[in-house]
Amino acid sequence: MSTQDLPLDLSLYPEGTSLDPDGRLVVGGCVVADLVEQFGTPAYIIDEGALRSRARAYVDAFTSRHASSLVLFASKSFPSAAVIGVMAQEGCGVDVAAAGELMIARAGGADPARMVLHGNAKTDLDLQTAIDAKVRYVVVDNLDDVDRIARLASSPVPVLLRVSPGIDASTHDAMMTGHDASKFGIPSRQISEVVARIRREPMLDLRGLHAHIGSQILDLEQFEAEVAALAKLEHFEVYDLGGGLGVRYVHTDNAPTVEEYADRLVAAVHRHLGNDIELMVEPGRSMVARNGITVYRVVTVKSGARMHVAVDGGMGDNLEVSLYGQPFEPSVIDKQGPMVTCDVVGRHCESGDTLVKDFDLVDPAVGDLLAVPVTGAYCFTMSNNYNAARRPPVVFCRDGVARLAVRRETFEDLMSREQLIERPA
Ligand code: LLP
Repeated sequence: MSTQDLPLDLSLYPEGTSLDPDGRLVVGGCVVADLVEQFGTPAYIIDEGALRSRARAYVDAFTSRHASSLVLFASKSFPSAAVIGVMAQEGCGVDVAAAGELMIARAGGADPARMVLHGNAKTDLDLQTAIDAKVRYVVVDNLDDVDRIARLASSPVPVLLRVSPGIDASTHDAMMTGHDASKFGIPSRQISEVVARIRREPMLDLRGLHAHIGSQILDLEQFEAEVAALAKLEHFEVYDLGGGLGVRYVHTDNAPTVEEYADRLVAAVHRHLGNDIELMVEPGRSMVARNGITVYRVVTVKSGARMHVAVDGGMGDNLEVSLYGQPFEPSVIDKQGPMVTCDVVGRHCESGDTLVKDFDLVDPAVGDLLAVPVTGAYCFTMSNNYNAARRPPVVFCRDGVARLAVRRETFEDLMSREQLIERPA
């Protein structure tokens, strides 16, 4: 049987995923059905080995082409101490967008000297936490950041200036960040004024520029355009080019490899910005997306005007579909049978809580396990408690050993923030 004949396309799953002789899905050497016995559903399953090799591939791709490179894992894409810890162990720095991410990154063992803090609305708390931790750079996004850092710092803080390089990246509108009307960064025409303002502040030490043009970008030319746009500005010694490399979500997608991305980006950097700069990139999605899957159990199958297969999760653990219309290719696993066209829906009280529509699954029935590949990025981080759902656990698998990285939320967790308000006398 070729991959095409299988009810699931293994090339969307973590590298090394296989089916055992009984046809059961195996991730990181662990039989997914066994993981479910132990940890329940829904669950996020991470292939730790694949995650580590992806991080190493990223670091190698950049440092081999440009020695003074630092790959910063964009922690927002999977802010768990275990994931960030693995990234740090494999040689990555971390990009954090708030005090909370910084604290999780530190808990994961990441070194603040290899962290960058950014954010378009950083509070005093965010800035103070980063300054006290002595992060490598704070990214200034607005003039209020300048005032705040000047007020909070007691010695000069190395900063980068986030600029909006005027690139309309072709991706979902909500993921475009590099255009002039973006809420992120300083638009081109104001940059020299803000640079001058930063240089008047003794507590800010301006080292370079930061840009991030958007997310899920599949066309490498857009990154080259970003570099060319930055080259039109004053030259600096440090450039952080953000993240944004897109990934394959469905079998018909094509995405550049990390090596292709590094090739084109570093060549553009050498051409436009020179060989002796400090270069940073901030991959999130392309680091983690393929290395995580979500496993659900089918709760009910309703065949009316449409065939609805409802699972025990949904928009509480995956907002990609309802927010961005992201297509996924789920599979009923460990089963053979006729294919049935259905809509896979979640358990939340909203019609938009759909995982995929008009999709062929192997004869779905109550109790079956449904796996959704490529859910390693932005699903855990945007999971929520809609309908008081408990957020799922994160299970790391490596060489056949499963370890809990984040436990499932309990009802006690949910209740722990609640206080009763008494009726007035
Ligand atoms: N650097 C900065 C400054 C960013 O804003 C982002 C993502 C990244 C790096 C990482 O980008 P990546 O390599 O992951 O594309 N919530 C959306 C994604 C929003 C991305 C926000 N910024 C989602 O669920 O798809």
